Amino acid sequence: MSRRTLRPLPNSKPQQRRRPAEYNRPPIINFTLTVQFKQDIAGRPDIDRMMRRFYERAMADDVIGYIFTDVAKLDLDRHLPIIGDFWETIVFQTPIYARHGRNPLQVHGELNDKERLLPAHFERWLKIFHEVADELFTGERHEFMKSRAGAIAARMTSYVASVSP
Ligand code: HEM
Repeated sequence: MSRRTLRPLPNSKPQQRRRPAEYNRPPIINFTLTVQFKQDIAGRPDIDRMMRRFYERAMADDVIGYIFTDVAKLDLDRHLPIIGDFWETIVFQTPIYARHGRNPLQVHGELNDKERLLPAHFERWLKIFHEVADELFTGERHEFMKSRAGAIAARMTSYVASVSP
């Protein structure tokens, strides 16, 4: 039987490891905080801002985008001032839209002759409209605008259904 020899323990003094210099620097935390308070629609510039965002989204939408781009081939530079006048008349009760002498029901009736506007299209239109309005504004005028949009969408839905073959 062999006797085990006790070996001396290795040097137990902890080794001094060098920490990389950057470990000793205070951490740099760099962020930007943007706080935006939503307000109600205050005037025409707010309506124009909302319309630009609405058409940007509606024209890129999977369900209704093609109606603007391919069917109506909408000229946005021409359309935006008209739709702005329409909403200004509704929200601020100015008579400005009347100068165009147009009737939105008829405009959508003509569009419906080219491409059948279905209830699902109007629902999608309204969903985008509400989303954009809620992203930008809060308050009474903004609620009024959404409820008017809903009422007009309902009228348009039944109108185009009534004139469709
Ligand atoms: C299926 C959903 C809808 C589609 C695809 C659609 C599409 C269009 C298009 C392409 C035009 C431009 C027509 C042109 O100038 O040749 C237009 C005009 C307009 N749309 Fe819509 N629309 C929809 C729903 C609505 C709803 C619910 C409203 C409610 C407020 C609305 C309000 C208007 C107004 C006021 C105009 C301007 C009419 C004018 O030129 O005087 N639309 N729409």
